[in-house]
Amino acid sequence: MPGKLDGQVAVITGAAQGQGAAEAALFAAEGARVAVADVQEDAGRAIAAEIGDAARFYPLDVSDPDAWARTIDDVVRQWGRLDVLVNNAGIGRPTPVLTATVEEYLAVFRVNELGVFLGTQAAARQMIRARSGSIINVSSTDGFVGQAPLSAYTASKFAVRGLTRTAAIELGPLGIRVNSIHPGWIETPMVAATPDMIERASRSLSRNPIPRMGKPSEAAQAALFLASDDSSFCTGAELCVDGGMLAGGWVPMLRKPTLEAAEKLAAS
Ligand SMILES: NC(=O)c1ccc[n+]([C@@H]2O[C@H](COP(=O)([O-])OP(=O)(O)OC[C@H]3O[C@@H](n4cnc5c(N)ncnc54)[C@H](O)[C@@H]3O)[C@@H](O)[C@H]2O)c1
Repeated sequence: MPGKLDGQVAVITGAAQGQGAAEAALFAAEGARVAVADVQEDAGRAIAAEIGDAARFYPLDVSDPDAWARTIDDVVRQWGRLDVLVNNAGIGRPTPVLTATVEEYLAVFRVNELGVFLGTQAAARQMIRARSGSIINVSSTDGFVGQAPLSAYTASKFAVRGLTRTAAIELGPLGIRVNSIHPGWIETPMVAATPDMIERASRSLSRNPIPRMGKPSEAAQAALFLASDDSSFCTGAELCVDGGMLAGGWVPMLRKPTLEAAEKLAAS
């Protein structure tokens, strides 16, 4: 069966682990050649080696415009084209409103927001040559709701939505689609690395329509949909991969009678 990305070339940032690594593996399995881009060199090289000939590691700090120019040039020199960019790299750090410093705040913004802008710009400058391309920006459910004590993270993920829509408007007539993904809790090192995060996640998860954590492979499938022609009429769109978290299932008062009625019907 033909792959959904046969012959295409994709750059995925933050691909040394977590969702980015799952996206790199899936895109390669679907026929793409994949640039695994990350600040973590050893882990990134290991992921590229695991995937095989279809993948190469590119050291990239997404907040550095020169590094972006070098990476896109190198990718095009290596593989001759660029079809897909997944702006997946992100960091989450506590930035309590009362105590966060300017540096702490901007550190998150440089990666999560400026990094997405720079990637979009660098990729689009190449993609306009073919008048074709798909850019996927990884925001979060925190792009829709507040999350304490993550003021900078949440604000940056809201900002990614505005950037995605604006880029979609500017780049659509040039053949480039730009969409965003909004993962809920996904089992990755980002979640595991933060103290008490798993516990907080489990508490909120139990009220979700799908009451479990998501897997990196489930986020990767959403990225694949937006990367491939399956989404050829989607741009400026926001795709939640959150087990229904943003549907509002955390209101337990309303859920209980519905579940009880369902149990009765199922038993009848
Ligand atoms: N895991 C979740 O529950 C969750 C939920 C919502 C959104 N997200 C978002 O999904 C994306 C992927 O997160 P993940 O869960 O796989 O996290 P992760 O921490 O496992 O992976 C993030 C990757 O980004 C890389 N990175 C960090 N700073 C970078 C920089 N300056 N330049 C290049 N690479 C850099 C890291 O080295 C790492 O490999 C992030 O944007 C994150 O905010 C995650």
